[in-house]
Amino acid sequence: MKKNKIIIANMKMNGSLSFNEQYLSKIKKNFNNFNSLNIGLCLPYPYLFQAKKILTGTKIRWGSQNVAKFENGPHTGEVSAAMLEEFGSKYVIVGHSERSTAYCESDENIADKFEKIKKYKMTPVLCVGETLIEREAGIMERVVSSQIKAIVENYGEEIFENTIVAYEPIWAIGSNMAASPEQANKMCIFIKNLICSRHNCNFINFNIIYGGSVNSKNAVQLFASEGLDGVLIGRASINFDEFSHICSVAEGI
Ligand code: 13P
Repeated sequence: MKKNKIIIANMKMNGSLSFNEQYLSKIKKNFNNFNSLNIGLCLPYPYLFQAKKILTGTKIRWGSQNVAKFENGPHTGEVSAAMLEEFGSKYVIVGHSERSTAYCESDENIADKFEKIKKYKMTPVLCVGETLIEREAGIMERVVSSQIKAIVENYGEEIFENTIVAYEPIWAIGSNMAASPEQANKMCIFIKNLICSRHNCNFINFNIIYGGSVNSKNAVQLFASEGLDGVLIGRASINFDEFSHICSVAEGI
């Protein structure tokens, strides 16, 4: 059976009550007819209530861009998985390089967050990827492998069931230099084999998507890549026409 394509919008630190009101209402009106897509919008925390209010009853799901690794308690400024779940969140981005770089998040921290998201029955969107220097040195697979192994070693491969891994090379984020479909496909197959190395691949059911300068022009080729189950979109997701174009392309493939 043909799998639905996954399209996750990482809206980053963008939006406002009035922008979201218009944007989410347009999405509600125009996106409900995409039958072969699983679309998720990852918004800043304060706007989750607004996404829940506008999108409940549609096929579009929402979620956040981070979560605390703690259950609850004295962790000033943190937001728990239980809180995200209360707002109807489905997708939670974890390990995005813009956070791991700026806030020195370790692979172990990211692993603990991943586990919390699963515990509250939401879907982690785990970001992995290498820097340009690492790619040029030819060690990109080693880098991605150690990011994934931090989770496997703490929680076992089985925790990847019903999750999403996003291959987001750091050099492709915000750069207009998307990975080629061949580069993206090759790494996605590597990741799939890595997670399934001790099991039959059919046993662990998870998805792999690509992120980094995805736009309406390169989407066709990316969606046609056999190893990719979808895309994670930054800038292009906050431009309604561009986002809508990408979704139409994916629906048509
Ligand atoms: P851009 O699509 O803006 O390059 O951002 C990608 C990204 O960081 C998605 O998580």
